[in-house]
Amino acid sequence: MNFQRLRGFEDLLPDEMRWRQAFLQRVERIFAAHDIHWITTPTLERTELFERSIGEATDIVEKEMFTFQDRGGRRVTLRPEGTAPVVRAFLEHRMQPPVRLGYYINNFRAERPQKGRLREFWQVGVEFLGYAHPASDVLLIQIATEILEAAGVSSWRLELHTLGTPEERNHFREALRTYLAGKDLCADCQRRLERNPLRVLDCKVDAPRLTDAPRLVEFLSEESRRFYEEVREGLARLGIPFEENPRLVRGLDYYTHTVFEFKAEGLGAQDAVGGGGRYDGLVAYLGGPDVPASGFAMGVERLRLASSLIPPDLPPLVMILGVEPADLPEVLSLEGELAGKGPWRVQVYPEPRSLKARMRLANRLGAHMVLIVGEEERKNRAVRLRDMAGHEEHTVPRERVLEVLRKHLGEVP
Ligand code: HAM
Repeated sequence: MNFQRLRGFEDLLPDEMRWRQAFLQRVERIFAAHDIHWITTPTLERTELFERSIGEATDIVEKEMFTFQDRGGRRVTLRPEGTAPVVRAFLEHRMQPPVRLGYYINNFRAERPQKGRLREFWQVGVEFLGYAHPASDVLLIQIATEILEAAGVSSWRLELHTLGTPEERNHFREALRTYLAGKDLCADCQRRLERNPLRVLDCKVDAPRLTDAPRLVEFLSEESRRFYEEVREGLARLGIPFEENPRLVRGLDYYTHTVFEFKAEGLGAQDAVGGGGRYDGLVAYLGGPDVPASGFAMGVERLRLASSLIPPDLPPLVMILGVEPADLPEVLSLEGELAGKGPWRVQVYPEPRSLKARMRLANRLGAHMVLIVGEEERKNRAVRLRDMAGHEEHTVPRERVLEVLRKHLGEVP
């Protein structure tokens, strides 16, 4: 038996966690600044929630969900995304719109793993519920750019488009289906043609050849065009550069009007670091009132791949070592006095090994300062203090240890 993690699932090791903590601290500030409130929903939901919201004919629902029967025979699914669960929670707890919710969650999609594509991945996302105005879409995009900056991602492109209303999209879908009928399409697209012809526009094989296909803009009402124009004008006013991509269809069915995707440089095929859009119909579709909404989610692993953010150095390490077992009570009492009292980490290593071996360990761990307590020190109520960089050692009175450490390593920040 060989216990290794499953393919597409990652351990987040301390280095990675430190990057995430630095990033999330910045995200916290961004959320607070924009009155976005944190929410976390369960990892497991009823399968129907996703079938209904993401759409039965999408790749996610058709072939990427981790779905199984629980012990009570219910069909349950590890969430593949955060929007549907947030809307479910919004309804279940009768939250009052308008409300701005933000999350940091793991998601599960059984995709073929490759660079930047995992089966368990994390998103930072924001959902605005009860916001109908195109200005909210602009603001959400602005917040997404702040998150890109917080992640240290400087080279990105924003792709933008509109999907209009569901009726407009239906007309477009019919026209597209008529146009595609009889065309020589790849096997995947043959299948998509019946259930979800819009996906054909997303196909890497077929789409480039279909240059004269009908375009959604031709089916937009005056109102929808105006909405889209206001989003573009708003972005221009904020100086946020964007490219219109009429082939931007997104992989989820709940969108209306605005859709967008952020692409980062140097990520290869999986270069979408985030995406989102408006989903005015979803709350009602899940059985709630008519609440307009819009949001986005950024993929944390992909942000990391494109990131130049370097987490701050760990504070200096102070090790406290006793010479012999009888010194341990004094060592522990020092640890209690010093831990958390300054910009340093404190570690006691109580294992019964020679002082020399433990000094080597202190060296390997990169300790800045080692405090040593032996019989002599205990008798004199003192502590030996070794500065590992300068290799200096001096004895200081027990009650002055904190003061001396502060002098060497700094005050509480
Ligand atoms: P999405 O485009 O499916 O949208 O995912 C958003 C981001 O999550 C992607 O741009 C990508 O960075 C990351 N991502 C997706 N799949 C994977 C994967 N297999 N491995 C690594 N990263 C991945 C949504 O999920 C929508 N809920 C966004 C949204 C929020 N729309 C409105 N509100």
